[in-house]
Amino acid sequence: MEMENKWLSEAFKGAVPDDFQGKVGWASPSNIALVKYWGKKGKQIPQNPSISFTLSECRSETFMTYEKADQFGFRFFFDGKENPAFGEKIEKFLLDYQTFFPFINQLSLTVESRNTFPHSSGIASSASSMSAFVMCLMAIENQIVKKQFDFQKASYFSRLASGSAARSVFPKMALWGATPYYEGSSDEYAVSLENDIHPVFKTFHDSILIVSGETKSVSSRAGHALMESNPYAPARYAQANENIKNLLAALKSGDLDTFINISESEALQLHALMMCSNPSYILMKPNTLKLINEIREFREETKIPMCFTLDAGPNVHLLYPESESKTVEEFVDVVLSFYCADNRWIDDRVGDGPKKLL
Ligand code: PMV
Repeated sequence: MEMENKWLSEAFKGAVPDDFQGKVGWASPSNIALVKYWGKKGKQIPQNPSISFTLSECRSETFMTYEKADQFGFRFFFDGKENPAFGEKIEKFLLDYQTFFPFINQLSLTVESRNTFPHSSGIASSASSMSAFVMCLMAIENQIVKKQFDFQKASYFSRLASGSAARSVFPKMALWGATPYYEGSSDEYAVSLENDIHPVFKTFHDSILIVSGETKSVSSRAGHALMESNPYAPARYAQANENIKNLLAALKSGDLDTFINISESEALQLHALMMCSNPSYILMKPNTLKLINEIREFREETKIPMCFTLDAGPNVHLLYPESESKTVEEFVDVVLSFYCADNRWIDDRVGDGPKKLL
């Protein structure tokens, strides 16, 4: 609430100049959670804190053209084609929160967006696309009232557009959700963990093994809602808080064993929660389990500190330190890619956060 009032009072409420027009652009990355956000309350407030790696290669690149107009106008293009369905979703967000951005009512906006990852890869794009969109909107405001870009504000509005998007605006790693184990943490926006992690995590790799690029049978929105009646929810939230405490310590000290233990347990818990929802559902595929077993066996044999995590879908994220990348990538090519759709995997790693394009 405190931040909400601050940004409400700061919002530019005057008339935009008659010759006001131009173009802004931001690229914003996807992120992969280690401690998962699963279950929410109120206005996109998480039931438990979450921690993620910010990715490098999976990004949305968004440009926004603006022009002074008598009334609000909005068009949305994805990959060069007008996309009214997605446009409506974004327009609704804009209209819901127009008190924070009242100047939009004097502008005609055209948004052009694309993802650097394939459309059919099953990689969720809402975190990258919504954060890129919010940053463009803020960039326009900053053209009217010259001020420094406020990443905390970007995280706050990205969260309102799509929960996990709150974490995409920071480099390396981010924490979203209030926890007594991290000063300054908040349910309303994410904070950067960049200065509180061991160097080994700053160059971590994530090979995204594409088991299926099909659209999920149950959306994340529906999955969050099912947590409200999940009998295991209280135990889950308690466990997530415990995992946050222990993961924060492990990230600081560079304790890879604890990192591996928590990451894999969190991934399996997320899917276990889906299996004990009512109605129950399963998003993993047979090859998801084959990959998990191969990864665990290879770790046992080689003692390489690598592990898996899962998003709300069948694809497997294989996480490992930069120092092991040669051996692990050979393993991915020779063994793991066999279980991937069309042998496809994305060679990603921890990234530096959003970039201004224009
Ligand atoms: O941001 P949403 O509403 O799409 O939810 C994301 C949920 C997970 O990706 C499964 C976990 C997370 O913390 O990113």
